[in-house]
Parts: sequence; C-alpha cells; structure tokens
Amino acid sequence: MRTPFVAGNWKMNKTAAEARELVSQLLGPLTDVAGVEKVLCPPFTSLFAVTSMLEGSGIGLGAQNMHWEEKGAFTGEVSPGMVKELCGYVIIGHSERRTYFGETDATVNKKLHAALKHDLTPIVCVGETLEEYESGRTSEVVLRQITLGLADVAPANAARIVVAYEPVWAIGTGKASSGENANFVHGQVIRPALSRLFGEETAQAMRILYGGSVTAANASEFFQQPEIDGALVGGASLKAGEFVAIVRAAVK
Ligand code: 13P
Repeated sequence: MRTPFVAGNWKMNKTAAEARELVSQLLGPLTDVAGVEKVLCPPFTSLFAVTSMLEGSGIGLGAQNMHWEEKGAFTGEVSPGMVKELCGYVIIGHSERRTYFGETDATVNKKLHAALKHDLTPIVCVGETLEEYESGRTSEVVLRQITLGLADVAPANAARIVVAYEPVWAIGTGKASSGENANFVHGQVIRPALSRLFGEETAQAMRILYGGSVTAANASEFFQQPEIDGALVGGASLKAGEFVAIVRAAVK
C-alpha cells in the first residue's frame, strides 16, 4: 500500500506575505485530512516565512529547486544544506527548469544524489513535450529521463524518491492528460523502469504522481487509477479551496 501524496508547486507566485495568507487558509482544512502526505512548495523567499506556521501540522514543506554543490561561488543558487534547514522535500528537474534554465538528465541526477545525501525527499519530474507526444515518443523520452535521472542510486535509498509524470503539453494548458493515459505511462513505462533499476519490491513501494492541469474537478479521475499515487499541482494549488478538495480526493 502506497500512501497517497499531493504536493502544491506554487512556482513563481506569492510574496512572503501572500504565502502566509494562503497557508493560514490551508492549515485547518489540510491538517484535518488524514492518510495523505501533503506538501507545499512555495518560492525560496517564502520558505522561512511559513515554516513555523506548518510546525506540528503534518503538512510538509518543499523547495522547487536547488543546486547540487554544498557551497561556493554559484551566484543566485541555493544549496542542499540551505534547503534542508527549512524543508523536508525538494522538486527536481521540473520541465520549466529543463526548458528555461538548461537542466538536463545529468544535472537532475546530480541534484537527486545531493537531495538523498541530505535526507531530503526528492520529487523528480519527467514528461514529454507536445512534439514528442505527437510523434509517439512518450515512452522513449520518459524512459530516458528515468534511467539517466535516477542512475546510480542504491535500491535502499530509492524507495523514498517520488516521481512526478508531468506531460509538458498538459502543464498550465487546462488540457490534462486522461487518467487512462497517465496510468499507462506510470504502469507500463515508469514503474517497469524503476523495477529494472531498483528491483520490483522497491519499485512497488515508490510513489508516482501525475501533474498537469489537475483541478478539484478532475482529480478523482486520476486518483482512481491504480498506478497513480497522487498529484503535483500547479495553478490549482494557489487557491485554498481547490487544493484542499484535491487533497481530500486523494484519500483512499
Ligand atoms: P498546472 O497544474 O498549473 O498545470 O502545473 C502543473 C505543474 O507543473 C506542477 O509542477
């Protein structure tokens, strides 16, 4: 039995004051939902602002990115140790970072190893572009991202890695994948790849989330699929009522 997992990726939204306001709306309703691992991923500048609010709430805090080096001359970057001071989770390799900031499977792999070393729970994002989808290359692309991105991880450390399948064509477009299509990619591409890397038992324990235009209205279409263990939510995580409804829908 895999515990359902729902994370809100706020992307570049909310000042620290706005973040505190949103967290104050989420706190009571989210704390009341049992049986789902819940995580909020605000921008770096809001992590410190909300960390004390979340203490004892059962709601986790995550960063949206980090560098793999411990410290040094990397202007504008944030180290794993800095993230670990405030967070239990970190999103790695989001498609927006791959598209706009030059991240590759190789940098994803470095960040993943750094996250595991610092005892952070990594949420590793994979997913094909529209062009790759339309040319029937989804399996090939996702397989490559998993195989290279998750390379050289010891099976004993792999169970806590969370994978998020986010087809790029479904992100922020309002055109979500169908539950069936996502379930196919999770069950026929990602989990078998995890099994080859880490063994079947570990692969069965790992959570695979769907992301891309998840809303309160379509969440249960995804959560009723056997291979979908939760969601990575963008736009809808910025509205308290929507996000709470999505988390509620994830309860088994
Ligand atoms: P949307 O839910 O806004 O489509 O974003 C999904 C996403 O990229 C989450 O990481």
